[in-house]
Amino acid sequence: MLPVTVRAPAKINLVLEVGAGRPDGFHALSTVYHAVSLYDEVTATPHDDAVLAVRVLDADSLRERTDVPRDESNLAIRAADRLRSHLGRPELGADLLIHKGIPVAGGMAGGSADAAATLVACNEAWQGGLSRAELEPIAAELGSDVPFLLHGSTAVGTGRGEQIAPVLARGHFHWVLATFAEGMSTPEVYEEHDRLGGRSGTFGEATQHVLEALRDGDPEVLGGALVNDLADAALALRPELAGVLALGLEAGAVGGLVSGSGPTLAFLVRDEIAADDLAEILRGAEVADVVLTAAGPRPGAKVVR
Ligand code: C5P
Repeated sequence: MLPVTVRAPAKINLVLEVGAGRPDGFHALSTVYHAVSLYDEVTATPHDDAVLAVRVLDADSLRERTDVPRDESNLAIRAADRLRSHLGRPELGADLLIHKGIPVAGGMAGGSADAAATLVACNEAWQGGLSRAELEPIAAELGSDVPFLLHGSTAVGTGRGEQIAPVLARGHFHWVLATFAEGMSTPEVYEEHDRLGGRSGTFGEATQHVLEALRDGDPEVLGGALVNDLADAALALRPELAGVLALGLEAGAVGGLVSGSGPTLAFLVRDEIAADDLAEILRGAEVADVVLTAAGPRPGAKVVR
């Protein structure tokens, strides 16, 4: 059995409409996921001693990341464990090496990307033989965003976000991402959203506007349609984000929003040159820890070696 490396992208929610709380503790969502060119890579080295282990390195510096758990609370370990249970092969083990390029606890689904990449890598490395369609329900058990990160590209998410349908999208979009070293807890942001009184407006309407903008393909139209129902909650918990969002919009972005449950801020710009320009302005203003540029859509979890 040989090592397998899989790359999975980060996501931005172009629209995130949060509906009612459900009996299972999740919220009904209507969202449009968009995969962008920031990646985590997972290399699975298989063995048959039933041991699952994970190491996480920063993709740029190759330094060990101490802010990511190495026990069963790591979503990559849980993904490998679920997969071997599903295959009925409890004796399978693997060393998982993650090269992390996606911000941790940043609202860009880095943990979910690792889970999606691990499912694909271990399925190959263990010769599990499951199809993408067969991996999808395992992905949904691991987290609401994980099925999308298998799928990639641009897709509508409903249910709690795990039910994915592809969308007709034209064009490529360029993004500037203002990222922050201190992450945010997704459950806390949802709790704050509930405390603030939930949402107003017709559920699903903002999603329709984004789908129309995607058919059009014009970044200015899409920029005007971006909506995140979790933004007020994220800004209430991290008030300093509001000024950064305003700065990005004043400095030439055609749209901007909190990514998922935050704190990453995603700015949509007209083209690649505009992305470099805005990134320089935000870096110069020293308002974020790291400013990155990215483009989408990009494919989902994919074997690279
Ligand atoms: O599914 P995932 O593990 O990403 O969810 C993390 C947490 O985010 C959940 O435990 C829940 O508190 C919140 N969540 C939610 N409704 C969703 C998705 C996530 O309330 N649709």
